[in-house]
Amino acid sequence: MDNTRKRALGAAGAGALAVVVALGIASSAGAAASTLHAAAAEQGRYFGTAVAAYKLSDSVYTGILDREFGMVTPENEMKWDATEPSQGSFSYGSADQIVNRALSHNQRMRGHALAWHQQQPGWAQSLSGTALRNAMVNHITNVATHYKGKIYAWDVVNEAFDDGGSGARRDSNLQRTGNDWIEVAFRTARAADPDAKLCYNDYNTDGQNAKSNGVYAMVQDFKARGVPIDCVGFQSHFNSASPVPSDYQANLQRFANLGVDVQITELDIEGSGTTQADNYRRVVQACLAVTRCTGITVWGIRDSDSWRASGTPLLFDGNGNKKPAYTSTLTALGGGNPTSTPPSSPPVSSSSSSQPPIPSDGCTATVARVDQWQGGFVVTVRVTAGANGTNGWAVTLPLPSGATVTNAWNTNRSGSVFSNVSYNGRIAAGQFTEFGFQGTGTAGTLTPSCSAS
Ligand code: G3I
Repeated sequence: MDNTRKRALGAAGAGALAVVVALGIASSAGAAASTLHAAAAEQGRYFGTAVAAYKLSDSVYTGILDREFGMVTPENEMKWDATEPSQGSFSYGSADQIVNRALSHNQRMRGHALAWHQQQPGWAQSLSGTALRNAMVNHITNVATHYKGKIYAWDVVNEAFDDGGSGARRDSNLQRTGNDWIEVAFRTARAADPDAKLCYNDYNTDGQNAKSNGVYAMVQDFKARGVPIDCVGFQSHFNSASPVPSDYQANLQRFANLGVDVQITELDIEGSGTTQADNYRRVVQACLAVTRCTGITVWGIRDSDSWRASGTPLLFDGNGNKKPAYTSTLTALGGGNPTSTPPSSPPVSSSSSSQPPIPSDGCTATVARVDQWQGGFVVTVRVTAGANGTNGWAVTLPLPSGATVTNAWNTNRSGSVFSNVSYNGRIAAGQFTEFGFQGTGTAGTLTPSCSAS
């Protein structure tokens, strides 16, 4: 981020009873998941955060990370200066630490960032022309290959447009290698990791303005010419000098209409109390209103973790307590209290017009497929207690042949049986809890059966 931008931001016991419910894709409007990621997943979205490797020994930090977030972006560890400190010599220690931890904690990864005019190693800063272009291509190939199959989406190119009113490219050493450097970066990333979504990411593009118009024209051109671009990231760093634009949703929608996913990639909003909470709510509502807005990432966990901590822009205070902004975000995502009462109108599935009544005993399980992509899927499963409540539960959920579970959350899994973990076995009568899992292959129609103890 340049100095102009920095200044702008600175201003601112019952017997077991099995009940079988077969569902395909369910929309679960009105669901009341108890964490950001679970609530977002019910809406078919992810909820993520930026993570710094050196904080992973802080148990308060990791406690919130693992409870609330399903997507992880390394804050600095994948940048060019970190991953290739000497030309041709790659250093993946800190980034690997974040990636391996995330994948083993049922979290997916956003990669950030392959090509950027900032945070380049000194050797790259001193290159130009063909030497720099070749170095960029070699860098992208090595990093994207190293993480092949582990990255949901890459920020392939970051912050390449100018902040002035021209809508033009930003001057940089990369830009001076030729205007085609961005498409070369995208083609190189696609060749290295064909399954990762490839994003262009920028700031001050959150509303319609000259800069976002410039990005829009580029994406439109890329789509017309078959340059591989799958998504556009809107960083969404907001404060009083750079507030949430009134046309935020409309701007997300016009990009989505080009045939790309849109993602909110670095959200933080300076402020406090109800004003800040209201702004977070607006951002979440805007994303949910745009079908191709696939997820939201906040740029850090606690205020004290933020790159601009004095603006207290995040969802947790310095002690890790939930702020009003957390509550408004969770509520906007359709979540709420972990033991909240199910919605008066039951969730509706696309393959069944209503859910079965709450059983007189035992439990029911319903499945919502919240994401499906080539080769993988994410589902959530809601376990609703019958009239006697539960002390524990187990859901048997056979997967179609060829599908396998890669990770699961809020549950213990043994084969096709998913059982409660320590904190969600007890469900009061008529209330519910939720777990989820990610898998490879195709989810197809899933038919769960639930037993309670
Ligand atoms: O690691 C060194 C440490 O050894 C040294 O003692 C310390 C002294 O300042 O610096 C540490 O490095 C800092 C690094 O963050 C890790 O904390 C760098 O100076 C500092 O420049 C770097 O700032 C990062 C910034 O990008 C760099 O441009 C922020 O953490 C990071 O949040 C920020 O993230 C960017 C996104 O990548 C792109 N969009 C804008 C966003 C906010 O600027």
